[in-house]
Amino acid sequence: VSDYEPWKPDPLSEPWRAALDEVWLKYCTDHYPNGVCAVFGFSKNGQISLTACIEGHTYQPKNYCNGKWRSVWSVVFEGSGSRAELKGVIKAQVHYYEDGNVQFFSSKDIQKQITISNEKQTAEEMRRLVEEAESEYQTAVSDNYRTMSETTFKALRRALPVIQQKLDWNRLTVRPFVSQSCAQLRHNFSTSASRQRVENVLIIGGGLMGSGIAQSCATSGKFNTITLQDVNQKQLEISRKGIESSVQKLHSKKLINIESVDKAVNSIHFTQKIEPKADKNLLIVEAIPELLDAKQKIFANLSQQFKGNDSVIFVTNTSSLSVQEIGVNVEAQERYGGLHFFNPVPLMRLVEIIKNVTTSQQTVDALKEFVADIQKVSVLCKDTPGFIVNRLLIPYSGEAVKMVERGDASFQDVDTAMKLGAGYPMGPFELMDMTGLDTGKFITDAWAKRKDSSLPEMTESKLVNKLVSEGRLGRKSGKGCVFGLILILVFIYETNCGSNETTIKGCEGKVCSDGKRCVCQNPCPPTCRNPKPNPCNTFWCNPNCYLVCDGREVLDEKTGRCKPLNEC
Ligand SMILES: NC(=O)c1ccc[n+]([C@@H]2O[C@H](COP(=O)([O-])OP(=O)(O)OC[C@H]3O[C@@H](n4cnc5c(N)ncnc54)[C@H](O)[C@@H]3O)[C@@H](O)[C@H]2O)c1
Repeated sequence: VSDYEPWKPDPLSEPWRAALDEVWLKYCTDHYPNGVCAVFGFSKNGQISLTACIEGHTYQPKNYCNGKWRSVWSVVFEGSGSRAELKGVIKAQVHYYEDGNVQFFSSKDIQKQITISNEKQTAEEMRRLVEEAESEYQTAVSDNYRTMSETTFKALRRALPVIQQKLDWNRLTVRPFVSQSCAQLRHNFSTSASRQRVENVLIIGGGLMGSGIAQSCATSGKFNTITLQDVNQKQLEISRKGIESSVQKLHSKKLINIESVDKAVNSIHFTQKIEPKADKNLLIVEAIPELLDAKQKIFANLSQQFKGNDSVIFVTNTSSLSVQEIGVNVEAQERYGGLHFFNPVPLMRLVEIIKNVTTSQQTVDALKEFVADIQKVSVLCKDTPGFIVNRLLIPYSGEAVKMVERGDASFQDVDTAMKLGAGYPMGPFELMDMTGLDTGKFITDAWAKRKDSSLPEMTESKLVNKLVSEGRLGRKSGKGCVFGLILILVFIYETNCGSNETTIKGCEGKVCSDGKRCVCQNPCPPTCRNPKPNPCNTFWCNPNCYLVCDGREVLDEKTGRCKPLNEC
């Protein structure tokens, strides 16, 4: 070992080394933000040797996870106009030791042909070849991590482990080497995989859907940063509480695999400003109300704000509007599309990916990966009204509302019929209550405006219009039309018995064939529990024949028969 000594550049190799050094430094900064790099050069018998090295590491003892990356690339050549062999070796090591001690070593030798031109072009060519090889390697390792738990580990399964206890395979599924806590490590190695992987997420609109999307991202543990933005500070507080209680519930039922509830919730940054914590490989999900103008404006602003950042993907979570129309102001059309989530997002496994005519395949691939990362299943659909699910669902729920409005059947019977007769897990009214009446109304209204001849004719529902105008949106507003069967009755009662209007149109003068009196079906006749309801309004008028108790008697809700009030 000697002291530092003055170093004299080798005159033949130095211009080549200096050109490569400049390019190498940029490559290293772009892809290994915490790494170090160096380029060495010398010549012997007229031959020039260049060697370029990279070292990057992440030590996270708190997360029980460390890792190191080294790659060395060298080339020997005679001067301009020749061809040479670029030789490289990549070495990666990951050490994960929370519940055991697992190490991953990987080493790969690479050889590529390189054409030697001038100093600058040769340096650029060498960078291109190295970037291609390292990205390929990164992608292969990432893919391997993902499939290993499904293949290698499951193949290793024993009938009964020596501990005589069932193995928790789900734990293994999410924790092979690079688990939630170590995801960071993989990102730090390189961010230049040929397929752009979403690393950061920004959600605009922290309502029902936005908070669900943020929660799913948080519990997946796959992202560096998650930002939930809303214009309304109160809504952000509600969202935070809602997410906390939902994560707590799912965690206690062992439906999610997280380190702690606090850690998951705290991984979301709640803010009124559109300022993601990090914007590299950022996915922006817009989830504001279903209003075209407002959505277009948001995307116009986002497009300007993130201009020049080619790693941003923009998506809308619209249910009914045209994805293309919403995004007319987005400049990077190839990085724009739709992601349609379902409510409640943390429980619903489906996400529809909407491929606009201009959306690139690379963007679709990145969205597929994102959906898989949050442990959901994606389906692909063109930008058509309602995509797949709502195209079928909206006409179905619309007809259910019409049935009740016409008085063909009750809310309860329609729900029961579809559950028991069609095998649906919930009836149309229960579903509408959960998804929000306003969302259904916006979809129907938006479809009417689209004037698409392939769509079924959609007429407005007075019932839904009235509820939405009164802010009775369903569970999300705490006042539903269904909200359990009890609230259905409360709702019908309030809706129809709250008016002082007494004119009953539609059934005046009708006589039933069995001679009974014909009246408008009054959903709130005098009953044992409520002998003096308000008069029925026209809204609920249903000119069918049915038994009404005469003025001295009331309807017994239990038996459906008339009896004097004092016998109730
Ligand atoms: N509710 C569903 O079942 C469902 C399902 C799939 C898709 N969607 C779609 O998701 C979107 C959101 O629906 P939701 O049910 O979550 O609505 P929501 O009303 O619950 O939430 C919307 C949120 O956006 C916020 N907001 C309004 N303008 C904003 C702006 N300019 N910037 C930032 N935040 C803004 C509001 O404060 C509100 O918190 C809609 O496009 C809807 O069609 C809804």
